[in-house]
Amino acid sequence: MSRSVRSDVININSDEAEIIASPSDHLFGKVLDLSENGLFLVDSDRKIILWNEWMVEASSLNRGDVIGSTFVEVFPGLKGRRIESVINAALDTRTASLLSRSLNKVIFPLYFSEARDEARRIEQSVTVKPIQSDGHDYCLIQIIDVTPMVQREDVLRVLAKEAEEALQVAEEASRFKSEFTSTVSHELRTPLTSIRGSLGLIASGVMGELKPEIGRLIAIACNNTERLLFLINDILDISKIESGKMDFVMGPVDLKAVLLQSIEVNQAYGEQYEVKYHLNDVIDGTTVYADTDRLMQVLNNLLSNAAKFSPKGTEVDISVIQKDGVIRVEIKDYGNGIPVKFQSRIFEKFSQADGSDTRKIGGTGLGLSISKAIVEKMGGSIGFDTEEGIGATFYIDVSLYADV
Ligand SMILES: Nc1ncnc2c1ncn2[C@@H]1O[C@H](COP(=O)(O)OP(=O)(O)OP(=O)(O)O)[C@@H](O)[C@H]1O
Ligand SMILES: [Mg+2]
Repeated sequence: MSRSVRSDVININSDEAEIIASPSDHLFGKVLDLSENGLFLVDSDRKIILWNEWMVEASSLNRGDVIGSTFVEVFPGLKGRRIESVINAALDTRTASLLSRSLNKVIFPLYFSEARDEARRIEQSVTVKPIQSDGHDYCLIQIIDVTPMVQREDVLRVLAKEAEEALQVAEEASRFKSEFTSTVSHELRTPLTSIRGSLGLIASGVMGELKPEIGRLIAIACNNTERLLFLINDILDISKIESGKMDFVMGPVDLKAVLLQSIEVNQAYGEQYEVKYHLNDVIDGTTVYADTDRLMQVLNNLLSNAAKFSPKGTEVDISVIQKDGVIRVEIKDYGNGIPVKFQSRIFEKFSQADGSDTRKIGGTGLGLSISKAIVEKMGGSIGFDTEEGIGATFYIDVSLYADV
């Protein structure tokens, strides 16, 4: 192919590569110069025969500096040789390649014209494409400025890093909070247990007869110590649940035995409210998949709630219903029920229905939240049905052991 290089833009559609006097002289040249991407063309002799306006600006090299030269002549050094080898490969094997930013960190030494420092380097995505025209081979190199995308990526990376750090700080704080809570609770529980023991002994009269007014004061102290211990145990449970440290020993549990034991434990408590527990028929040998102690803990809370929110002289009915491998234990009382406004919050921590009655009755409002966490850890669920003024039925659903 004979070619006389008269200027810098070549029309590769002609029989012979037609050289155009000036890019602005020709629509084709104008189009190339208006491109927002860098474009240059190399012929089969590896000589640059087209260098558009974008390339002029980004490289600060005029067409006269590059046209007719090889790429290495324009950009000597390692980088130039690497890029030329990609161009050679495109021409020799007629295969296109993409020099992605992620794989080829620095591609062409191109800069924004106002500053030639590293920070202002144009981030690039480059395609190298072989072109055949009229029996001749060319290689078109197209450079896309991906700087805004990279900057966005950088911003996102910084944001992601900040979010990760914030999460670490929050996790640290939460770990500290839960360690602090459990340490303090443990430290309080030991002396309180001994105070309760001593007060109990004094109250029982084994240390000698008490004057009635002293006896009354000791009883109040005993009672409050007991309440504090309940609270501390509940807080310890919550912190165990939240840190995932509550252990469960799952296995077969004889439901009837657990229910009878639970009723026995709560009998005295029920008597305080003049409420009796009544267990409806349970098929002997009904075995559920659970942790015995934790199941007892849930039942104790449901039974004590039922008693303390029941009117004097009423009963609390306990029933077991089996349906499709799920065992439901229902605890039904005939109290005031759960106010509609409170129903959505009932399983939250420290939540108690407003009203002088509840406050007077006491408790910490942790029982149901702990019960829910326990039942769910055992793979079951907890819920209630209620009608204000008529009563409430709380239930837990657990798996039949045979089906596990
Ligand atoms: N059977 C019920 N009838 C009416 N209200 C109930 C019943 N069971 C629970 N509630 C309401 O839900 C609240 C939360 O119950 P929960 O068992 O979580 O806490 P508590 O019994 O107040 O205290 P704790 O169980 O921690 O000693 C109760 O204070 C009460 O307002
Ligand atoms: Mg309770």
